[in-house]
Amino acid sequence: MNVVAGAPSLEHLRLRPAGRADLPTLVALRRAVGWGSGGLEGSLGAAAAGRQAIVLADLDGIPVGAVTVALHAGLPPGRAHVSDLLVSPLWRRRGVGTALLQAAEEEARGRGLRECTLDVDAGNAAALELYRRAGYVHYRPAQFPWGPGYTLRKVLGPAPPAARFGLLGRLHWRLR
Ligand SMILES: CC(C)(COP(=O)(O)OP(=O)(O)OC[C@H]1O[C@@H](n2cnc3c(N)ncnc32)[C@H](O)[C@@H]1OP(=O)(O)O)[C@@H](O)C(=O)NCCC(=O)NCCS
Repeated sequence: MNVVAGAPSLEHLRLRPAGRADLPTLVALRRAVGWGSGGLEGSLGAAAAGRQAIVLADLDGIPVGAVTVALHAGLPPGRAHVSDLLVSPLWRRRGVGTALLQAAEEEARGRGLRECTLDVDAGNAAALELYRRAGYVHYRPAQFPWGPGYTLRKVLGPAPPAARFGLLGRLHWRLR
C-alpha cells in the first residue's frame, strides 16, 4: 500500500453521514476526480429522507472521499446499490476506498438488506480490483452512455462482530 509521507494514518479516518451542509465538500471532492455535481442536492435530499446514505470520509478533518448507497426506491427487495465511490487523488492506496465501501455495506446490512450491486466502467482497473478484493463478482454486463461496463454484485453476510471487524470497529460510523 502506498502511503503519503507525513500523512495522518488511517487510524484517524472518520466516516460519517453527509448532510445538506456538506454540499460544498461533496462538490469539491467530485471536482477533484473530474466529476460534475448535477443532482447532488437531490441526492442529499434523498439521504435526508432515508432513501439513501452518503458517507463522507475525513482524515484529521480533511475530506478525502465519499460514497453513496441507495437503499430503497426503485431497487428489487433486499438490494442496496452503491455508487459514486471516490477518493481524493492524494489519499489513494491507503484503504480509504475500501473503508468507504465497507461503511456503505454496513449501512445496507443495518437496513436489513442482503445484497449489494454497483456499476463500474470496463476500463476502470483500480475500481475493478478494489471491488474484486472486496468480494464483488460479475452480475451482468452494462452499457453506459460513455462506454461499456459491468454491474457487480455481492451477497452481504451477517454483520461481523466488532472485534473481527478491525477497521470499521474503530470508525466513527453512526447514521442515526
Ligand atoms: C477507485 C478508488 C475509489 C480507489 O480508492 P482507494 O482509496 O485508492 O482504494 P484502496 O486504497 O481501498 O484500494 C484497495 C485495493 O484496490 C486496488 N487498487 C486501488 N487502486 C488501484 C490502482 N490504481 N491500480 C490497481 N489496483 C488498485 C488494490 O488492490 C488496493 O489494495 P493495495 O493498495 O493494498 O494494493 C479511487 O482510485 C478513485 O477515487 N478513483 C476515481 C473515482 C472512481 O473511479 N470511482 C469508482 C467508480 S465505480
